[in-house]
Amino acid sequence: MTIALVGPMGSGKSHVARDLARISGLPFIDLDAEIERRAGSSIATIFFTEGEEVFRQTETEALRETIECDSILATGGGVVTRPENCVLLRAAKVVYLRAKPETLAARIRQQPGTRPLIDGEGTLDFDRTLARVEEILAQRSALYESVANLVLDSDERAPRELAQEIWTTFRNR
Ligand code: S3P
Repeated sequence: MTIALVGPMGSGKSHVARDLARISGLPFIDLDAEIERRAGSSIATIFFTEGEEVFRQTETEALRETIECDSILATGGGVVTRPENCVLLRAAKVVYLRAKPETLAARIRQQPGTRPLIDGEGTLDFDRTLARVEEILAQRSALYESVANLVLDSDERAPRELAQEIWTTFRNR
């Protein structure tokens, strides 16, 4: 079985996926880390030196090659922006980790310099981060919902608790 976590930057996909991998015994795959391994550079560097299109192409290739592996897959927040990725995701049980814009902005601000789509080459303050997060959610919320088999609100819940609920939902399916 493959369980893929989708949702915006800061929704907790990687944290929940790690806990879910531990609980389920399935291997953990982080799609962003897979892209960095293939490119030999960080996500921010790929965006700035080669551009978003090259990043998205690498993301689709990495998704195509990992989606069939029995695993817990943490995707990047923009994976749903390509229709072909949404088709590939149908091979997995997909969980959308939803969160309020304020929650996402606060979490994003704890890791400056890692989200080129938010910060560009600088660092935004909280209010501008929030505005950017709201813009991105307006473009993507319906896409996350359309690929999801399960939607969970992640604002107030610990990764471990979310992971437990996901495993209880899918373990026998
Ligand atoms: C992106 C989200 C990032 C990463 C890249 C683009 C996006 O992943 O893939 O910076 O388009 O939302 P996280 O959601 O893990 O931060």
